[in-house]
Amino acid sequence: MDAKVAIDVEDSPYLRGNFAPIRSEDDFVDLPVRGELPAGLAGVLYRNGPNPQFAPRDGGYHWFVGDGMMHAFHVEDGRVRYRNRYARTPKWTAEHAAGRALFGSWGDPRSSDPSVIGLDGGVANTNVLWHGGRLLALEEAHAPFEMDPDSLESRGYRDAFGGRVTAHPKIDPETGEMVFFAYAVGEVPLSSTISYGVADAAGRLVRRQDFEAPYCSMIHDFMVTRDHVLFPVLPLTGSLERAMRGGPPFAWEPGKGAFVGVMRRDADVSTIRWFETEACYVFHVLNAWDDGDRIVADVMQYDRAPLFPNADGGAGAPSWARLTRWTFDLSGASDVIRSEPLDDLAGEFPRIDERRAGLANRHGWFAAQRRRPGDVRADALVHIDFATGRRSVAGFDGGDCVSEPVFAPRSADAAEGDGWITAVVWRAAENRSDFVVYEAQDISAGPVAVVELPRRTPFGFHGAWRPSA
Ligand SMILES: [Fe+2]
Repeated sequence: MDAKVAIDVEDSPYLRGNFAPIRSEDDFVDLPVRGELPAGLAGVLYRNGPNPQFAPRDGGYHWFVGDGMMHAFHVEDGRVRYRNRYARTPKWTAEHAAGRALFGSWGDPRSSDPSVIGLDGGVANTNVLWHGGRLLALEEAHAPFEMDPDSLESRGYRDAFGGRVTAHPKIDPETGEMVFFAYAVGEVPLSSTISYGVADAAGRLVRRQDFEAPYCSMIHDFMVTRDHVLFPVLPLTGSLERAMRGGPPFAWEPGKGAFVGVMRRDADVSTIRWFETEACYVFHVLNAWDDGDRIVADVMQYDRAPLFPNADGGAGAPSWARLTRWTFDLSGASDVIRSEPLDDLAGEFPRIDERRAGLANRHGWFAAQRRRPGDVRADALVHIDFATGRRSVAGFDGGDCVSEPVFAPRSADAAEGDGWITAVVWRAAENRSDFVVYEAQDISAGPVAVVELPRRTPFGFHGAWRPSA
């Protein structure tokens, strides 16, 4: 490696502790179980996250840019087997052959090896979906990357969706469609062009259409209801001009205003109506649904975008997310989003019983930050029953941290929320991880099963439950 760009792997906080990558691809079978795995729990929890193959070439390493690694927890007959594999992307393959990192952080051409300039630098590290009979590893700005659902062997990019797809498509539980978007598409980097797309239940592209946003924004997630789709354009702005001046490509710029574009799913993008709200940021949406002439969306709202600098490059102020309800009035009376807090705990990674995606939901879960608001290392799981207003908390002590909660239904036709919550917990004192299972509506009673891994799995982003049969 060029000496002037070689840095110590410990330079980034995202390479320390349980952010640090693991170096093995393993198969563990019949893992030790404390408690009892429910007899009806049969399927796979897939979890995706960054696991950089090599030390970075520059000081810009960020949690978001490490090579993707898929972790699969297969549950069957009261037993669990675990497998993890890298997403062998073109970037991973080129770097593996070279025996070192070739791409700069965020694909920065200034710190990339000349041999990879212009090559695909996707990492497939953010989310995972089971759709159309395929396991898709997803990331912010590339096509979905397909992996074998059992062996986790990499099958390569699935270029069936007309280009890039962000990490958070929604699967319509009634039609099986995958509804998705991409932002900053087109030839010019950091453009304000957004793509809206739909694939049918078999994974065939049936629609993809571009439109212009008020400005280029990092749009991590969006909302889809039975009848509508909503695009948040919030002022974590992208600017090529700023980046060319040596400033941050993405930065907090509240003066740009905050907008959410709303359109009917069956309409043309020219019909998008832009609602406004105060400057804020949202990485993740719990759910959204139609309610007569209103749309309701529950989101994890920050006062300002975390993890990113101000437009002048200065460090941003701390910020954390709280569950917040947005209401959109479709009657024409107002273009202002009504916003009301639903809970006071700082949190992230909100999830529902996915069978209610786009429909009114009674139950929601998220990972909370009780002791360190804004720190992604969550120390509690939270369940909210929106019908009763009851909040239940399962806390972790001693520095232990918990992943996003993922719901597994008791059966295909079980009532909403009737099932289990699955998650992965990092045990700080042992520097090891557990796969945990809770009764979904009784998490404060503690886990019904704790499955011990012989080593840790690094902090990751999102997971998906795929039931057997
Ligand atoms: Fe996400």
